[in-house]
Amino acid sequence: FSAALIDSFHRRHDYLRISLTERCNLRCFYCMPSEGIELSPSENILTNEEILRLASLFVKSGVTKIRLTGGEPTVRKGISEIIAGLNKLRPHGLKSIGMTSNGLSLHRRLPEFIENGLTHLNLSLDTLDEFRFELMTRRRGLHAVLRTLDVALASFPYVKLNVVVVKGLNDAEVLDFVAMTKDKPISVRFIEFMPFTGNKWDAGKMIPSSDLLKVISDRHPEVVRAPDELNDTARTWKIPGYTGNFGFISSMSDHFVTFFSFSNKIREPTFIQCATCNRLRITADGQIKVCLFDAKEVSLRDKMRSGATDSELLTTIGLAVQGKQEKHVGMQDIDVVTNRPMILIGGRRSSR
Ligand code: GTP
Ligand code: 5AD
Ligand code: SF4
Repeated sequence: FSAALIDSFHRRHDYLRISLTERCNLRCFYCMPSEGIELSPSENILTNEEILRLASLFVKSGVTKIRLTGGEPTVRKGISEIIAGLNKLRPHGLKSIGMTSNGLSLHRRLPEFIENGLTHLNLSLDTLDEFRFELMTRRRGLHAVLRTLDVALASFPYVKLNVVVVKGLNDAEVLDFVAMTKDKPISVRFIEFMPFTGNKWDAGKMIPSSDLLKVISDRHPEVVRAPDELNDTARTWKIPGYTGNFGFISSMSDHFVTFFSFSNKIREPTFIQCATCNRLRITADGQIKVCLFDAKEVSLRDKMRSGATDSELLTTIGLAVQGKQEKHVGMQDIDVVTNRPMILIGGRRSSR
């Protein structure tokens, strides 16, 4: 493991998220305004070769898991070649090639991606209702996403579903999502709605995970805590006998306070996610970002384009990683103005 990927708090970063594009074929209201966002000029976006060069460097330095994100990664031309290129890094230690997608146009291409080396898929899907889908994403397409889910379930041992829960919009569907885990190997992750500039967040629209857990346990008193994956951002629960499970990504409520769940039966101290953070990310325009909630960025693209050698690049990466804070300030204090919108970070989030 290269020292460049170990920070001053001894965290080893073996998970790299690579954003392939700033574009998206949906317009989720919590992520961006209806008119979309201003895109970087295309020459600023990393080329396939640059992406694969960085990926190779990171893998040879210790990264074992890569996740392709966006925007919507599938709208990038040449994504299949990128997956195939990543697949060639397996002998160097890459174990997992994942993708987070909205699934809108994926069902036709998924078999090809899998053939090229894709190993994991996380699908973003906030509602099972056609009308609400259009309300939340400003586009039609629930059917297409559900078709992708079916193809994915037939292709992978399990699929994670990301559900951003917004009060008054899709919160009444929480039990429907839990019901989906009965016979299907689905891991639903309920995500707390996060505030970013331009996404019309207000505290009243955010439902703390503990409230959702209460709703679920009222219906299913037998619900139990399930083991989390290593470094997972979700806290996982399960209805005994169900094939799948569900969990909570509590970015808003789970960071600093000790969180006790609703009943004295299930008491659970908070895990500070930051302590086990193993993630680094590269934005579509080639900046390394050591924390989702840190606005600081360093351009690896500029380094590469000015002729840096691999070892010079690694030095730059190492300096960025050394600058990683012990924990982020917390959502309440995050500087939403200087931090980039999630769609530009890799993963999704709101816009200016
Ligand atoms: P796995 O590889 O399956 O663990 O996926 P993931 O959860 O890392 O990735 P995904 O793209 O599905 O992201 C789902 C949610 O995880 C996002 O909406 C965020 O809320 C949260 N998340 C993603 N990256 C980070 C991060 O770097 N830090 C924290 N605290 N949360 C993150
Ligand atoms: N709050 C919470 N989650 C969000 N996502 C995008 N924007 C927000 C937000 N404002 C989610 C997407 C996707 C994941 C990567 O991030 O739904 O599933
Ligand atoms: Fe696109 Fe994802 Fe943003 Fe929705 S949340 S607009 S699917 S990038």
